[in-house]
Amino acid sequence: MCGVIGYTGKQPAADVLLDGLTRLEYRGYDSAGVATVFNGDLHLKKGVGKLEEVERDCCISRLPGTTGIGHVRWATHGGVTVTNAHPHLDCLKFIAIAHNGIIYNYQQLRRKLSAKHEMVSETDTEVVAHLIEEYMLPGVPLEQAVARAVKEIQGTYALVVASTVEPQTIVATRKGSPLVVGIGKGENFVSSDFQAFLPHTRKVLFLDDEEMAVITPGKVNIHSAYGKKVFRGSVTLDIELAVREKNGFDFFMLKEIFDQPQAIISATKQEKEALQKAANLVNSSRSVVFTACGSSRYASLIGRYMFSKIAHRFSDVIISSEFGYFGDAVDEQTLVIALSQSGETADVIQGIKEAQSRGAKVLSIVNTIGSTLARMSDCTLYLNCGAEFAVAATKSFLSELVVLYLLSFSVAGRLEEAETELVKISALLDENLRLNNDAVPKAANMLSKYDKFYYIARGINFAVAGEASLKLKEVAYVHSEGMSAGELKHGTLALVENGTPVIAIAPCDGTRDDILSNVSEVKARGAYIIGVSDKPDKLFDMYIEIPRVNEYFYPLVSIVPLQLFAFHSAIARSLDPDRPRNLAKSVTVT
Ligand code: G6P
Repeated sequence: MCGVIGYTGKQPAADVLLDGLTRLEYRGYDSAGVATVFNGDLHLKKGVGKLEEVERDCCISRLPGTTGIGHVRWATHGGVTVTNAHPHLDCLKFIAIAHNGIIYNYQQLRRKLSAKHEMVSETDTEVVAHLIEEYMLPGVPLEQAVARAVKEIQGTYALVVASTVEPQTIVATRKGSPLVVGIGKGENFVSSDFQAFLPHTRKVLFLDDEEMAVITPGKVNIHSAYGKKVFRGSVTLDIELAVREKNGFDFFMLKEIFDQPQAIISATKQEKEALQKAANLVNSSRSVVFTACGSSRYASLIGRYMFSKIAHRFSDVIISSEFGYFGDAVDEQTLVIALSQSGETADVIQGIKEAQSRGAKVLSIVNTIGSTLARMSDCTLYLNCGAEFAVAATKSFLSELVVLYLLSFSVAGRLEEAETELVKISALLDENLRLNNDAVPKAANMLSKYDKFYYIARGINFAVAGEASLKLKEVAYVHSEGMSAGELKHGTLALVENGTPVIAIAPCDGTRDDILSNVSEVKARGAYIIGVSDKPDKLFDMYIEIPRVNEYFYPLVSIVPLQLFAFHSAIARSLDPDRPRNLAKSVTVT
Protein backbone atom coordinates (compact mmCIF):
# COMPACT_ATOMS: atom_id res chain seq x y z
CA MET A 1 0.00 0.00 0.00
CA CYS A 2 1.60 3.15 -1.12
CA GLY A 3 1.59 6.28 -3.25
CA VAL A 4 2.86 6.44 -6.83
CA ILE A 5 3.73 9.31 -9.14
CA GLY A 6 5.08 9.71 -12.68
CA TYR A 7 6.25 12.76 -14.64
CA THR A 8 7.46 13.53 -18.12
CA GLY A 9 8.13 17.02 -19.39
CA LYS A 10 10.77 19.72 -19.34
CA GLN A 11 11.44 20.27 -15.64
CA PRO A 12 13.99 18.25 -13.63
CA ALA A 13 11.86 15.17 -12.89
CA ALA A 14 13.45 14.54 -9.48
CA ASP A 15 12.25 17.93 -8.15
CA VAL A 16 8.69 17.43 -9.40
CA LEU A 17 8.54 13.85 -8.11
CA LEU A 18 10.06 14.62 -4.73
CA ASP A 19 7.69 17.52 -4.17
CA GLY A 20 4.75 15.34 -5.22
CA LEU A 21 5.83 12.54 -2.90
CA THR A 22 5.67 14.90 0.10
CA ARG A 23 1.92 15.12 -0.57
CA LEU A 24 1.59 11.35 -0.95
CA GLU A 25 3.34 10.48 2.30
CA TYR A 26 0.00 10.03 4.04
CA ARG A 27 -0.21 6.76 2.05
CA GLY A 28 3.01 5.37 3.51
CA TYR A 29 6.25 6.55 4.99
CA ASP A 30 8.43 3.53 5.73
CA SER A 31 10.57 3.92 2.60
CA ALA A 32 10.68 5.94 -0.61
CA GLY A 33 12.38 6.03 -4.00
CA VAL A 34 12.59 7.65 -7.41
CA ALA A 35 13.85 6.40 -10.79
CA THR A 36 14.58 8.73 -13.71
CA VAL A 37 15.52 8.10 -17.32
CA PHE A 38 18.56 9.97 -18.60
CA ASN A 39 21.04 9.41 -21.42
CA GLY A 40 19.87 5.88 -22.14
CA ASP A 41 20.05 4.71 -18.51
CA LEU A 42 17.74 4.38 -15.54
CA HIS A 43 18.94 6.27 -12.46
CA LEU A 44 17.57 4.98 -9.18
CA LYS A 45 17.72 6.15 -5.59
CA LYS A 46 15.71 4.63 -2.80
CA GLY A 47 15.99 4.25 0.93
CA VAL A 48 14.31 3.41 4.21
CA GLY A 49 12.58 5.95 6.45
CA LYS A 50 10.46 9.03 6.01
CA LEU A 51 10.88 10.93 2.74
CA GLU A 52 13.00 13.67 4.30
CA GLU A 53 15.35 11.01 5.75
CA VAL A 54 15.62 9.21 2.39
CA GLU A 55 16.38 12.52 0.65
CA ARG A 56 18.97 13.38 3.32
CA ASP A 57 20.67 9.98 2.94
CA CYS A 58 20.33 9.38 -0.83
CA CYS A 59 19.92 12.86 -2.40
CA ILE A 60 17.03 11.91 -4.69
CA SER A 61 16.90 15.54 -5.83
CA ARG A 62 20.23 15.07 -7.65
CA LEU A 63 18.83 12.46 -10.06
CA PRO A 64 19.16 13.68 -13.67
CA GLY A 65 16.51 13.71 -16.41
CA THR A 66 13.06 15.06 -17.12
CA THR A 67 11.11 11.78 -17.01
CA GLY A 68 10.69 9.53 -14.00
CA ILE A 69 8.55 7.74 -11.44
CA GLY A 70 8.42 7.84 -7.64
CA HIS A 71 6.98 5.94 -4.73
CA VAL A 72 6.30 6.11 -1.01
CA ARG A 73 5.83 2.73 0.66
CA TRP A 74 3.80 1.13 3.42
CA ALA A 75 5.12 -2.40 3.46
CA THR A 76 2.75 -5.28 2.72
CA HIS A 77 4.99 -7.97 1.18
CA GLY A 78 8.56 -8.00 2.38
CA GLY A 79 10.13 -6.11 5.28
CA VAL A 80 11.10 -2.46 5.37
CA THR A 81 14.45 -2.62 3.57
CA VAL A 82 16.17 -0.65 0.82
CA THR A 83 15.89 -3.63 -1.54
CA ASN A 84 12.15 -3.91 -0.97
CA ALA A 85 11.62 -0.17 -1.49
CA HIS A 86 10.22 0.85 -4.91
CA PRO A 87 10.86 1.51 -7.77
CA HIS A 88 11.76 -2.03 -8.83
CA LEU A 89 13.76 -2.89 -11.95
CA ASP A 90 13.93 -5.80 -14.38
CA CYS A 91 17.10 -7.91 -14.80
CA LEU A 92 18.54 -5.75 -17.57
CA LYS A 93 17.69 -2.53 -15.73
CA PHE A 94 15.79 -0.86 -18.50
CA ILE A 95 12.33 -0.98 -16.95
CA ALA A 96 11.35 0.69 -13.65
CA ILE A 97 8.00 0.28 -11.95
CA ALA A 98 6.26 1.65 -8.87
CA HIS A 99 3.12 0.00 -7.53
CA ASN A 100 0.25 0.60 -5.11
CA GLY A 101 -1.84 -2.49 -4.39
CA ILE A 102 -1.28 -6.22 -3.93
CA ILE A 103 -0.45 -8.84 -6.56
CA TYR A 104 -2.15 -11.94 -5.16
CA ASN A 105 -0.61 -14.45 -7.59
CA TYR A 106 2.96 -13.11 -7.23
CA GLN A 107 4.35 -16.37 -5.87
CA GLN A 108 3.05 -18.32 -8.80
CA LEU A 109 4.45 -15.70 -11.23
CA ARG A 110 7.75 -15.69 -9.36
CA ARG A 111 8.05 -19.45 -9.75
CA LYS A 112 7.25 -19.18 -13.43
CA LEU A 113 9.85 -16.44 -14.04
CA SER A 114 12.58 -17.62 -11.70
CA ALA A 115 14.36 -19.85 -14.25
CA LYS A 116 15.14 -16.83 -16.42
CA HIS A 117 14.94 -13.89 -14.05
CA GLU A 118 16.74 -12.99 -10.85
CA MET A 119 14.46 -11.44 -8.24
CA VAL A 120 16.29 -9.40 -5.65
CA SER A 121 13.47 -8.30 -3.36
CA GLU A 122 10.78 -10.08 -1.33
CA THR A 123 8.01 -7.91 -2.76
CA ASP A 124 4.98 -8.90 -4.78
CA THR A 125 5.72 -5.95 -7.09
CA GLU A 126 9.08 -6.97 -8.49
CA VAL A 127 7.62 -9.83 -10.54
CA VAL A 128 5.72 -7.27 -12.61
CA ALA A 129 8.98 -5.61 -13.75
CA HIS A 130 10.28 -9.01 -14.88
CA LEU A 131 6.98 -9.90 -16.50
CA ILE A 132 7.10 -6.68 -18.57
CA GLU A 133 10.72 -7.54 -19.45
CA GLU A 134 9.48 -10.91 -20.78
CA TYR A 135 7.14 -9.17 -23.21
CA MET A 136 9.47 -6.30 -24.11
CA LEU A 137 10.71 -7.92 -27.32
CA PRO A 138 12.40 -5.82 -30.02
CA GLY A 139 9.87 -3.59 -31.73
CA VAL A 140 7.17 -4.09 -29.05
CA PRO A 141 6.03 -0.75 -27.59
CA LEU A 142 6.23 -0.36 -23.80
CA GLU A 143 2.44 0.01 -23.53
CA GLN A 144 1.92 -3.34 -25.25
CA ALA A 145 4.41 -5.12 -23.00
CA VAL A 146 2.70 -3.62 -19.92
CA ALA A 147 -0.75 -4.57 -21.27
CA ARG A 148 0.34 -8.18 -21.74
CA ALA A 149 1.96 -8.31 -18.31
CA VAL A 150 -1.07 -6.98 -16.43
CA LYS A 151 -3.28 -9.61 -18.08
CA GLU A 152 -1.39 -12.16 -16.00
CA ILE A 153 -1.75 -10.29 -12.74
CA GLN A 154 -4.42 -11.13 -10.19
CA GLY A 155 -4.90 -8.47 -7.56
CA THR A 156 -5.06 -4.73 -7.23
CA TYR A 157 -2.70 -2.24 -8.73
CA ALA A 158 -1.91 1.32 -9.65
CA LEU A 159 1.25 0.89 -11.70
CA VAL A 160 3.53 3.52 -13.18
CA VAL A 161 6.23 2.33 -15.55
CA ALA A 162 9.23 4.09 -17.11
CA SER A 163 11.79 2.62 -19.51
CA THR A 164 14.95 3.56 -21.34
CA VAL A 165 13.41 2.07 -24.49
CA GLU A 166 10.90 4.96 -24.61
CA PRO A 167 12.74 7.58 -22.59
CA GLN A 168 9.93 10.16 -22.56
CA THR A 169 6.99 7.85 -21.90
CA ILE A 170 5.24 6.88 -18.68
CA VAL A 171 2.76 4.02 -18.89
CA ALA A 172 0.20 3.95 -16.08
CA THR A 173 -2.56 1.45 -15.42
CA ARG A 174 -4.89 0.62 -12.56
CA LYS A 175 -7.26 -1.91 -11.08
CA GLY A 176 -8.74 -1.32 -7.65
CA SER A 177 -6.23 1.41 -6.69
CA PRO A 178 -6.73 5.02 -7.80
CA LEU A 179 -4.77 6.82 -10.55
CA VAL A 180 -5.29 10.27 -11.96
CA VAL A 181 -3.50 11.91 -14.88
CA GLY A 182 -2.57 15.63 -14.76
CA ILE A 183 -2.46 17.51 -18.06
CA GLY A 184 0.14 20.27 -18.28
CA LYS A 185 1.64 22.34 -21.10
CA GLY A 186 4.47 20.33 -22.63
CA GLU A 187 4.48 18.15 -19.51
CA ASN A 188 2.16 15.56 -18.03
CA PHE A 189 1.75 13.84 -14.69
CA VAL A 190 0.15 10.78 -13.15
CA SER A 191 -0.37 9.93 -9.50
CA SER A 192 -2.44 8.14 -6.88
CA ASP A 193 -3.76 11.57 -5.81
CA PHE A 194 -4.02 14.81 -7.78
CA GLN A 195 -2.70 16.73 -4.74
CA ALA A 196 0.73 15.40 -5.77
CA PHE A 197 0.77 17.53 -8.93
CA LEU A 198 -1.72 20.27 -8.05
CA PRO A 199 0.98 23.02 -7.98
CA HIS A 200 1.52 22.31 -11.71
CA THR A 201 -1.94 21.66 -13.11
CA ARG A 202 -5.60 21.42 -12.16
CA LYS A 203 -6.63 19.76 -15.43
CA VAL A 204 -7.09 16.04 -14.76
CA LEU A 205 -8.31 12.77 -16.24
CA PHE A 206 -9.42 10.08 -13.79
CA LEU A 207 -8.56 6.58 -14.96
CA ASP A 208 -11.11 3.79 -14.49
CA ASP A 209 -10.27 0.21 -13.57
CA GLU A 210 -8.24 -1.68 -16.18
CA GLU A 211 -7.59 1.44 -18.25
CA MET A 212 -4.10 2.38 -19.34
CA ALA A 213 -2.67 5.85 -19.94
CA VAL A 214 0.31 6.30 -22.25
CA ILE A 215 1.82 9.61 -21.25
CA THR A 216 4.41 11.66 -23.13
CA PRO A 217 5.22 15.36 -22.62
CA GLY A 218 2.83 16.40 -25.39
CA LYS A 219 0.11 13.75 -25.27
CA VAL A 220 -1.99 11.43 -23.11
CA ASN A 221 -3.68 8.44 -24.74
CA ILE A 222 -6.05 6.23 -22.81
CA HIS A 223 -6.92 2.66 -23.74
CA SER A 224 -9.35 0.16 -22.28
CA ALA A 225 -8.30 -3.34 -21.18
CA TYR A 226 -9.14 -4.51 -24.69
CA GLY A 227 -6.81 -1.98 -26.31
CA LYS A 228 -9.69 0.25 -27.48
CA LYS A 229 -9.00 4.00 -27.43
CA VAL A 230 -10.99 5.75 -24.70
CA PHE A 231 -12.18 9.31 -25.43
CA ARG A 232 -12.57 11.17 -22.15
CA GLY A 233 -12.69 14.90 -21.57
CA SER A 234 -10.51 16.32 -18.83
CA VAL A 235 -11.98 18.05 -15.77
CA THR A 236 -10.58 21.20 -14.23
CA LEU A 237 -10.52 20.85 -10.47
CA ASP A 238 -11.72 23.72 -8.33
CA ILE A 239 -9.70 22.55 -5.36
CA GLU A 240 -7.15 24.28 -3.15
CA LEU A 241 -3.68 22.84 -2.68
CA ALA A 242 -3.50 21.37 0.82
CA VAL A 243 -1.04 23.64 2.62
CA ARG A 244 1.18 21.83 5.11
CA GLU A 245 1.21 24.55 7.79
CA LYS A 246 1.55 23.87 11.50
CA ASN A 247 0.58 27.46 12.41
CA GLY A 248 3.08 27.70 15.25
CA PHE A 249 2.31 24.27 16.74
CA ASP A 250 5.11 21.70 16.95
CA PHE A 251 2.93 18.90 15.63
CA PHE A 252 0.06 18.63 13.13
CA MET A 253 -1.93 16.52 15.58
CA LEU A 254 -1.94 19.29 18.20
CA LYS A 255 -2.76 21.93 15.58
CA GLU A 256 -5.62 19.81 14.30
CA ILE A 257 -6.98 19.27 17.83
CA PHE A 258 -7.00 23.05 18.28
CA ASP A 259 -8.61 23.54 14.84
CA GLN A 260 -11.74 21.79 16.10
CA PRO A 261 -13.88 24.69 17.32
CA GLN A 262 -13.57 26.16 13.82
CA ALA A 263 -14.05 22.72 12.23
CA ILE A 264 -17.46 22.49 13.91
CA ILE A 265 -18.50 25.77 12.30
CA SER A 266 -17.14 24.76 8.88
CA ALA A 267 -18.83 21.35 8.94
CA THR A 268 -22.11 22.97 9.99
CA LYS A 269 -22.07 25.00 6.77
CA GLN A 270 -23.53 22.29 4.57
CA GLU A 271 -25.12 22.98 1.21
CA LYS A 272 -28.82 22.89 2.06
CA GLU A 273 -29.71 21.06 -1.15
CA ALA A 274 -27.20 18.25 -0.57
CA LEU A 275 -28.32 17.85 3.04
CA GLN A 276 -31.96 17.67 1.95
CA LYS A 277 -31.10 15.14 -0.76
CA ALA A 278 -29.25 13.05 1.85
CA ALA A 279 -32.22 13.24 4.26
CA ASN A 280 -34.57 12.19 1.42
CA LEU A 281 -32.35 9.20 0.68
CA VAL A 282 -32.64 8.14 4.33
CA ASN A 283 -36.40 8.68 4.38
CA SER A 284 -36.98 6.74 1.16
CA SER A 285 -34.85 3.74 2.13
CA ARG A 286 -36.12 0.66 3.94
CA SER A 287 -32.88 0.09 5.82
CA VAL A 288 -29.78 2.14 6.60
CA VAL A 289 -26.32 0.64 7.03
CA PHE A 290 -23.24 2.63 7.96
CA THR A 291 -19.86 1.39 6.82
CA ALA A 292 -16.39 2.74 7.69
CA CYS A 293 -13.00 1.91 9.23
CA GLY A 294 -10.97 3.21 12.16
CA SER A 295 -12.10 6.53 13.61
CA SER A 296 -14.76 6.90 10.93
CA ARG A 297 -16.33 3.69 12.23
CA TYR A 298 -16.51 5.10 15.75
CA ALA A 299 -18.20 8.19 14.29
CA SER A 300 -20.67 5.85 12.54
CA LEU A 301 -21.54 4.21 15.87
CA ILE A 302 -22.49 7.64 17.20
CA GLY A 303 -24.47 8.20 13.98
CA ARG A 304 -26.37 4.98 14.59
CA TYR A 305 -27.29 6.21 18.07
CA MET A 306 -28.41 9.61 16.72
CA PHE A 307 -30.47 7.97 13.98
CA SER A 308 -32.30 6.02 16.65
CA LYS A 309 -32.72 8.87 19.15
CA ILE A 310 -33.50 11.75 16.81
CA ALA A 311 -34.63 10.27 13.50
CA HIS A 312 -36.26 7.20 15.10
CA ARG A 313 -34.60 5.03 12.45
CA PHE A 314 -32.98 1.75 13.30
CA SER A 315 -29.65 1.34 11.50
CA ASP A 316 -26.55 -0.82 11.73
CA VAL A 317 -22.80 -0.32 11.39
CA ILE A 318 -20.72 -2.83 9.42
CA ILE A 319 -16.93 -2.59 9.51
CA SER A 320 -16.02 -2.11 5.84
CA SER A 321 -13.61 -5.04 5.71
CA GLU A 322 -16.49 -7.26 6.96
CA PHE A 323 -19.01 -5.94 4.47
CA GLY A 324 -18.46 -8.73 1.96
CA TYR A 325 -19.15 -11.38 4.61
CA PHE A 326 -22.05 -9.61 6.26
CA GLY A 327 -23.93 -7.54 3.70
CA ASP A 328 -26.28 -10.30 2.48
CA ALA A 329 -29.47 -8.41 3.33
CA VAL A 330 -28.37 -5.32 1.37
CA ASP A 331 -30.63 -4.67 -1.63
CA GLU A 332 -32.02 -1.80 -3.74
CA GLN A 333 -34.08 -0.60 -0.75
CA THR A 334 -30.94 -0.14 1.33
CA LEU A 335 -29.07 3.09 1.85
CA VAL A 336 -25.40 2.59 2.69
CA ILE A 337 -23.80 5.57 4.43
CA ALA A 338 -20.04 5.39 3.98
CA LEU A 339 -17.82 7.58 6.17
CA SER A 340 -14.21 8.23 5.24
CA GLN A 341 -11.92 11.18 5.80
CA SER A 342 -9.77 10.32 2.80
CA GLY A 343 -12.43 8.79 0.57
CA GLU A 344 -9.70 6.37 -0.54
CA THR A 345 -9.74 3.62 2.11
CA ALA A 346 -9.71 0.41 0.06
CA ASP A 347 -11.91 -1.55 2.48
CA VAL A 348 -14.60 1.13 2.31
CA ILE A 349 -14.46 1.28 -1.48
CA GLN A 350 -14.66 -2.48 -1.76
CA GLY A 351 -17.65 -2.54 0.63
CA ILE A 352 -19.40 0.13 -1.42
CA LYS A 353 -18.82 -1.76 -4.66
CA GLU A 354 -20.36 -4.81 -3.03
CA ALA A 355 -23.38 -2.75 -1.88
CA GLN A 356 -23.80 -1.15 -5.31
CA SER A 357 -23.67 -4.53 -6.99
CA ARG A 358 -26.71 -5.43 -4.86
CA GLY A 359 -28.51 -2.28 -5.99
CA ALA A 360 -28.03 -0.20 -2.82
CA LYS A 361 -27.82 3.61 -2.91
CA VAL A 362 -24.71 5.21 -1.43
CA LEU A 363 -24.48 8.38 0.61
CA SER A 364 -20.89 9.25 1.48
CA ILE A 365 -19.55 11.58 4.15
CA VAL A 366 -15.98 12.48 3.18
CA ASN A 367 -13.38 15.18 3.57
CA THR A 368 -11.44 14.89 0.33
CA ILE A 369 -13.15 16.50 -2.63
CA GLY A 370 -12.77 14.47 -5.82
CA SER A 371 -11.85 11.30 -3.89
CA THR A 372 -12.77 7.87 -5.26
CA LEU A 373 -15.57 7.38 -2.72
CA ALA A 374 -17.11 10.79 -3.46
CA ARG A 375 -17.07 10.04 -7.18
CA MET A 376 -18.77 6.66 -6.65
CA SER A 377 -21.63 7.94 -4.47
CA ASP A 378 -25.20 8.94 -5.25
CA CYS A 379 -24.86 11.85 -2.85
CA THR A 380 -21.91 13.25 -0.87
CA LEU A 381 -21.72 15.47 2.19
CA TYR A 382 -18.33 17.06 2.81
CA LEU A 383 -16.62 17.62 6.14
CA ASN A 384 -15.14 20.99 5.06
CA CYS A 385 -12.44 20.73 7.73
CA GLY A 386 -9.44 21.26 5.42
CA ALA A 387 -6.58 18.81 4.95
CA GLU A 388 -5.73 16.66 7.96
CA PHE A 389 -2.06 15.69 8.02
CA ALA A 390 -1.56 13.84 11.32
CA VAL A 391 -2.17 10.12 10.84
CA ALA A 392 -4.54 9.94 13.81
CA ALA A 393 -7.90 11.47 12.92
CA THR A 394 -9.02 14.32 15.19
CA LYS A 395 -10.77 17.20 13.44
CA SER A 396 -12.11 14.90 10.72
CA PHE A 397 -13.68 12.67 13.40
CA LEU A 398 -15.37 15.67 15.02
CA SER A 399 -16.53 16.96 11.62
CA GLU A 400 -18.00 13.55 10.78
CA LEU A 401 -20.00 13.79 14.02
CA VAL A 402 -21.23 17.26 13.08
CA VAL A 403 -22.45 16.03 9.69
CA LEU A 404 -24.16 13.05 11.34
CA TYR A 405 -25.93 15.38 13.82
CA LEU A 406 -27.08 17.59 10.94
CA LEU A 407 -28.28 14.59 8.97
CA SER A 408 -30.18 12.98 11.86
CA PHE A 409 -31.89 16.26 12.76
CA SER A 410 -32.66 16.90 9.04
CA VAL A 411 -34.30 13.50 8.73
CA ALA A 412 -36.47 14.49 11.70
CA GLY A 413 -37.16 17.94 10.17
CA ARG A 414 -35.36 19.67 13.06
CA LEU A 415 -32.20 20.91 11.36
CA GLU A 416 -32.19 24.37 12.95
CA GLU A 417 -32.05 22.91 16.48
CA ALA A 418 -28.81 21.13 15.61
CA GLU A 419 -27.30 24.18 13.92
CA THR A 420 -27.98 26.39 16.94
CA GLU A 421 -26.53 23.84 19.36
CA LEU A 422 -23.40 23.28 17.24
CA VAL A 423 -22.56 26.98 17.13
CA LYS A 424 -22.83 27.14 20.95
CA ILE A 425 -20.63 24.04 21.30
CA SER A 426 -17.91 25.51 19.11
CA ALA A 427 -17.47 28.41 21.54
CA LEU A 428 -17.61 26.17 24.63
CA LEU A 429 -15.03 23.84 23.14
CA ASP A 430 -12.68 26.70 22.42
CA GLU A 431 -12.79 27.72 26.10
CA ASN A 432 -12.45 24.12 27.29
CA LEU A 433 -9.40 23.48 25.09
CA ARG A 434 -7.60 26.39 26.75
CA LEU A 435 -8.52 25.05 30.19
CA ASN A 436 -7.35 21.51 29.41
CA ASN A 437 -4.22 22.61 27.60
CA ASP A 438 -2.62 22.91 31.08
CA ALA A 439 -4.35 20.14 32.99
CA VAL A 440 -4.23 17.31 30.44
CA PRO A 441 -0.45 17.32 29.74
CA LYS A 442 0.10 17.04 33.51
CA ALA A 443 -2.28 14.07 33.67
CA ALA A 444 -0.56 12.40 30.70
CA ASN A 445 2.85 12.85 32.30
CA MET A 446 1.67 11.52 35.63
CA LEU A 447 0.19 8.42 34.01
CA SER A 448 3.01 7.80 31.54
CA LYS A 449 4.39 4.86 33.54
CA TYR A 450 1.24 2.79 32.94
CA ASP A 451 1.05 0.40 30.00
CA LYS A 452 -2.64 -0.45 29.98
CA PHE A 453 -5.71 1.77 30.15
CA TYR A 454 -9.45 1.12 30.11
CA TYR A 455 -11.96 3.63 28.79
CA ILE A 456 -15.54 3.07 29.90
CA ALA A 457 -18.80 4.75 28.89
CA ARG A 458 -22.43 4.07 28.14
CA GLY A 459 -25.03 5.00 25.55
CA ILE A 460 -23.95 7.57 23.01
CA ASN A 461 -20.60 7.96 24.80
CA PHE A 462 -19.68 4.29 24.33
CA ALA A 463 -18.16 4.97 20.91
CA VAL A 464 -16.18 7.86 22.40
CA ALA A 465 -14.50 5.35 24.73
CA GLY A 466 -13.54 3.30 21.66
CA GLU A 467 -12.24 6.29 19.72
CA ALA A 468 -10.28 7.64 22.73
CA SER A 469 -8.71 4.23 23.24
CA LEU A 470 -7.82 4.01 19.52
CA LYS A 471 -6.06 7.41 19.77
CA LEU A 472 -3.93 6.20 22.68
CA LYS A 473 -2.95 2.99 20.87
CA GLU A 474 -2.18 4.81 17.62
CA VAL A 475 0.08 7.54 18.90
CA ALA A 476 1.38 6.44 22.34
CA TYR A 477 1.66 2.68 21.57
CA VAL A 478 -0.14 1.89 24.83
CA HIS A 479 -2.48 -1.06 25.13
CA SER A 480 -5.98 0.13 25.88
CA GLU A 481 -9.55 -0.92 25.55
CA GLY A 482 -12.65 1.21 25.10
CA MET A 483 -15.73 -0.54 26.29
CA SER A 484 -19.31 -0.37 27.36
CA ALA A 485 -19.17 0.10 31.14
CA GLY A 486 -21.94 -2.45 31.64
CA GLU A 487 -19.75 -5.14 30.05
CA LEU A 488 -16.91 -4.71 32.55
CA LYS A 489 -18.29 -7.19 35.04
CA HIS A 490 -18.63 -9.80 32.30
CA GLY A 491 -14.89 -10.34 31.94
CA THR A 492 -12.60 -7.33 31.77
CA LEU A 493 -12.96 -6.68 35.49
CA ALA A 494 -10.60 -9.62 36.02
CA LEU A 495 -7.79 -7.45 34.59
CA VAL A 496 -8.30 -4.57 36.99
CA GLU A 497 -5.61 -4.41 39.68
CA ASN A 498 -4.44 -1.93 42.22
CA GLY A 499 -3.69 1.32 40.36
CA THR A 500 -5.05 0.28 36.92
CA PRO A 501 -6.06 3.53 35.18
CA VAL A 502 -9.73 3.56 34.18
CA ILE A 503 -10.99 6.58 32.26
CA ALA A 504 -14.72 6.99 32.83
CA ILE A 505 -16.71 9.21 30.46
CA ALA A 506 -19.47 10.30 32.81
CA PRO A 507 -21.27 13.44 31.65
CA CYS A 508 -24.52 14.66 33.18
CA ASP A 509 -26.77 12.83 30.73
CA GLY A 510 -28.97 9.78 31.06
CA THR A 511 -25.92 7.52 31.54
CA ARG A 512 -24.46 9.28 34.59
CA ASP A 513 -25.93 7.21 37.45
CA ASP A 514 -25.27 3.88 35.78
CA ILE A 515 -21.72 4.74 34.86
CA LEU A 516 -20.95 5.95 38.38
CA SER A 517 -22.14 2.65 39.70
CA ASN A 518 -19.70 0.84 37.33
CA VAL A 519 -16.98 3.24 38.49
CA SER A 520 -17.65 2.15 42.09
CA GLU A 521 -17.19 -1.49 41.02
CA VAL A 522 -13.76 -0.92 39.48
CA LYS A 523 -12.69 1.44 42.26
CA ALA A 524 -13.51 -1.28 44.80
CA ARG A 525 -10.91 -3.42 42.96
CA GLY A 526 -8.23 -0.73 43.26
CA ALA A 527 -8.62 1.10 39.91
CA TYR A 528 -7.37 4.67 39.60
CA ILE A 529 -10.31 6.66 38.19
CA ILE A 530 -9.96 9.51 35.74
CA GLY A 531 -13.40 11.06 35.41
CA VAL A 532 -14.25 12.98 32.22
CA SER A 533 -17.30 14.99 33.09
CA ASP A 534 -19.03 18.33 33.54
CA LYS A 535 -19.57 17.51 37.22
CA PRO A 536 -16.94 16.26 39.67
CA ASP A 537 -17.60 13.25 41.87
CA LYS A 538 -15.88 11.89 44.94
CA LEU A 539 -15.21 8.64 43.10
CA PHE A 540 -12.84 10.39 40.68
CA ASP A 541 -9.13 10.32 41.60
CA MET A 542 -8.49 12.73 38.74
CA TYR A 543 -11.00 15.03 37.03
CA ILE A 544 -10.92 16.18 33.41
CA GLU A 545 -13.53 18.87 32.89
CA ILE A 546 -15.78 19.16 29.85
CA PRO A 547 -18.47 21.80 29.21
CA ARG A 548 -22.16 21.16 29.89
CA VAL A 549 -24.10 20.69 26.64
CA ASN A 550 -27.37 19.23 25.39
CA GLU A 551 -27.30 15.51 26.27
CA TYR A 552 -27.02 14.26 22.67
CA PHE A 553 -23.97 16.38 21.95
CA TYR A 554 -21.58 15.18 24.69
CA PRO A 555 -19.42 13.11 22.28
CA LEU A 556 -18.27 16.35 20.62
CA VAL A 557 -16.88 17.73 23.85
CA SER A 558 -15.77 14.56 25.64
CA ILE A 559 -13.50 13.21 22.88
CA VAL A 560 -11.41 16.39 22.65
CA PRO A 561 -9.57 16.26 26.03
CA LEU A 562 -9.01 12.55 25.37
CA GLN A 563 -7.37 13.35 22.02
CA LEU A 564 -5.18 15.78 23.96
CA PHE A 565 -4.45 13.07 26.50
CA ALA A 566 -3.31 10.65 23.75
CA PHE A 567 -1.19 13.38 22.14
CA HIS A 568 0.58 14.26 25.41
CA SER A 569 0.97 10.57 26.28
CA ALA A 570 2.94 10.21 23.01
CA ILE A 571 5.06 13.27 23.84
CA ALA A 572 5.68 11.95 27.38
CA ARG A 573 7.04 8.76 25.76
CA SER A 574 9.21 10.71 23.26
CA LEU A 575 7.19 9.51 20.25
CA ASP A 576 6.23 11.31 17.04
CA PRO A 577 2.42 11.54 17.23
CA ASP A 578 2.12 12.76 13.62
CA ARG A 579 3.57 9.66 11.98
CA PRO A 580 3.20 6.63 14.26
CA ARG A 581 5.07 3.46 13.42
CA ASN A 582 3.41 0.88 11.11
CA LEU A 583 0.42 3.10 10.28
CA ALA A 584 -0.61 5.26 7.34
CA LYS A 585 -3.19 8.02 7.04
CA SER A 586 -4.98 6.31 4.20
CA VAL A 587 -4.97 2.53 3.91
CA THR A 588 -5.29 1.73 0.21
CA VAL A 589 -5.07 -2.05 0.37
CA THR A 590 -7.72 -4.44 1.62
C1 G6P B 1 -6.31 4.59 8.76
C2 G6P B 1 -5.94 5.77 9.64
C3 G6P B 1 -7.04 6.02 10.67
C4 G6P B 1 -8.39 6.21 9.96
C5 G6P B 1 -8.71 5.01 9.08
C6 G6P B 1 -9.93 5.26 8.20
O1 G6P B 1 -6.25 3.41 9.51
O2 G6P B 1 -4.71 5.54 10.30
O3 G6P B 1 -6.74 7.19 11.41
O4 G6P B 1 -9.40 6.39 10.91
O5 G6P B 1 -7.61 4.76 8.18
O6 G6P B 1 -9.64 6.30 7.30
P1 G6P B 1 -10.69 7.09 6.47
O7 G6P B 1 -9.89 8.01 5.59
O8 G6P B 1 -11.46 6.08 5.67
O9 G6P B 1 -11.56 7.83 7.42
